Amino acid sequence: MRIIFDEKNKVFLLHTENTTYGLAVVDDRYVEHLYYGARIEDTDIRYLLREDEAPFTPSVNKRETGAFLDCAPMEYPETGMGDYRESAFCVRSMAGYRASELAYEGYEIEDGKPELRGLPATWGSPEDCMTLKVFLRDSLLGIKVTLLYSIFRGLDAVVRSVLVENEGSEPFYLEKVLSACVDMDDRGFEVLGLFGSWARERHIQRMPLGYGRQNIASVKGESSHQEHPFLALVTPETTQESGEVYAMNFVYSGNFIAQVEKSQFNSVRMLMGIHPEGFTWKLEPGEQFTAPEVVMVYSGQGLGNMTRTFHDLYREHLIRSPYLHEKRPILINNWEATYFDFDEKKLLEIAKDASELGIEMLVMDDGWFGKRSLDDSSLGDWYVNEEKIRGGLHTLVENVKKLGMKFGIWIEPEMISPESELYRKHPDWAIQIPGRDITQSRAQYVLDFSRDEVVDGVYEMIAEVLRSADISYVKWDMNRQLATLGSCALPPDRQGELFHRYMLGVYRMQERLITDFPHLLLENCSGGGARFDAGMLYYSPQIWCSDDTDAIERLAIQEGTALIYPVSAMGAHVSVCPNHTVGRTTPFETRGDVALLGTFGYELDITKLSEEEKEQVKSQVENYHKYNDLIREGDYYRLASAAENRYYDSWMIVEKDKSRALLFCVHVLAEANAKSRFLRLSGLDPEKRYLVEGKAYTGRTLMHAGLRIPAVFGDFKSRLIEIKEAPLL
Ligand code: DGJ
Repeated sequence: MRIIFDEKNKVFLLHTENTTYGLAVVDDRYVEHLYYGARIEDTDIRYLLREDEAPFTPSVNKRETGAFLDCAPMEYPETGMGDYRESAFCVRSMAGYRASELAYEGYEIEDGKPELRGLPATWGSPEDCMTLKVFLRDSLLGIKVTLLYSIFRGLDAVVRSVLVENEGSEPFYLEKVLSACVDMDDRGFEVLGLFGSWARERHIQRMPLGYGRQNIASVKGESSHQEHPFLALVTPETTQESGEVYAMNFVYSGNFIAQVEKSQFNSVRMLMGIHPEGFTWKLEPGEQFTAPEVVMVYSGQGLGNMTRTFHDLYREHLIRSPYLHEKRPILINNWEATYFDFDEKKLLEIAKDASELGIEMLVMDDGWFGKRSLDDSSLGDWYVNEEKIRGGLHTLVENVKKLGMKFGIWIEPEMISPESELYRKHPDWAIQIPGRDITQSRAQYVLDFSRDEVVDGVYEMIAEVLRSADISYVKWDMNRQLATLGSCALPPDRQGELFHRYMLGVYRMQERLITDFPHLLLENCSGGGARFDAGMLYYSPQIWCSDDTDAIERLAIQEGTALIYPVSAMGAHVSVCPNHTVGRTTPFETRGDVALLGTFGYELDITKLSEEEKEQVKSQVENYHKYNDLIREGDYYRLASAAENRYYDSWMIVEKDKSRALLFCVHVLAEANAKSRFLRLSGLDPEKRYLVEGKAYTGRTLMHAGLRIPAVFGDFKSRLIEIKEAPLL
């Protein structure tokens, strides 16, 4: 890990273990992107800027500045001066003009990494990371922009954010402040993204890159079920194990844009940041605005290597929870077991049977508060419904604890039901446009979390519940998108700040929750996985992955999620069949194996399981205890994708020291005339000898010739195979 400034060549190089990111100052004014890719040591690389070719030389090319601006590889492109590709920065002056000229002013290189106030972000000690700050200034409006780049010891990632300060004498309006931009020559790139819908989140899609702009975005006020704040450019030959990948992932949970543009000159501009639609931010003299962080990963060894870099970075430098490296309690959640139809008696029946099978925590889901018996009331009334929970919460929790179990609870703090005491008392607390009907979704409105009094008011009610009983876990849900966007508290020229201020309010309350209740295990959730993103991981070590608990549907969802996020963060449960979302029946064993890849738990009425199924629960619980350390801390390798081949899915988790691994194979569809398959394993030490089901092989054999997996009769069958380093002969 090293950051260099070559004074003579005016070149900055950020060296990670295996990659280099470079920028250069041109004519003491422009900051241009120089290089991103495999590690190179030379600093004399200005030839990469093509300064000897027109129109890449601004100083000798004055009558054609426009041509220069529109084709040079810009590090932080602006609106208004002649770069017609998508800009990263747009400012509107009080006089109404949209333009800026951010000229290079200087730099600083420091050990460590500054905090991004109020925002989730990667972190690290001065020994573990370094930061480059590049200062830019627009002298007409007094705008100071700091481009921040941090790198980490042993990790091939560059994280970026942007700080804007008003050092002038008048306010101005920020209309766009994206967090990262990379300009490169096209190399026949393809675009990789994650797409879906409710119950079908984060399916991987790979598409050709054409001329023009292709973007992945959300303007829903959350990172969303549909599109995901992740974008990668890959070369056509890129596979799990080889080829180039340039990836960006946003450490933010609200509106985003991730865009790639192929220009008339075959250059490619990749951008990521807060979506400019519906965004403006008034910056008064002396004020600052910080754009959230983008994580960039370059891999020259395929997608698998990119995945493992993201996993390690997020486990070592993003997730802060004390549970990160802990085996989480195996939970049973009553949602699919009862939906809203439960009382304390039913919960205790579930807890009793669950505790006998080794399950360690009962989670009481939606429906325990106010007068809620369906999804049409009481959000905001955060007190226990004693008609349902007779004897109160404290008694229920104590009774659950007597069974040797912990207790967890569901909340949805950002919401308010029109049918609630809170709404009757504070109708102005809902996000709304005066004079218009508020768009309803699931019969609920969204609270205006841009207002401190709203966040604090809701927090106090929830904290009171948490203080009233011994609650070990909270599931924080969020079940609708934002619409009819307006705040009763913001002045007209600040209404465009609502989306982002809302997110800052959510982050503030999550921070307060985990600070005041440091032993709380927080799981984020949003109607399934609509807010499974790196922003949320800063507050909670796990996130509910999807409301679709069908083991086969989960293959693609978990494959897409694990493309970036550590498997230790994926909320995954065993549920009943026929599955409530798709009606499919799969073997109990397969459901257990698929859920084992995540945090692991149950979401079913355990009192209704057959004796045979209960026996299977016991062995799944045993597997969890046996393998969770490895699954949580190991390296993830994707071997096969049923989303691509239709028939089988397979992945491995390998211990960091390569002494042990776990192989998962799910046969999705049976094939006629099937023969056994030689599955080539990954991530092992070629020189080590491994024992697999009683037979010894070298790692080299298992990785090149493969492990023989017999043909399977029937659909949806899974196998879990342990691979252990063989003792020396
Ligand atoms: C959506 C969540 O994803 C479910 O698990 C459940 O908690 C419901 N909300 C409750 O309303």
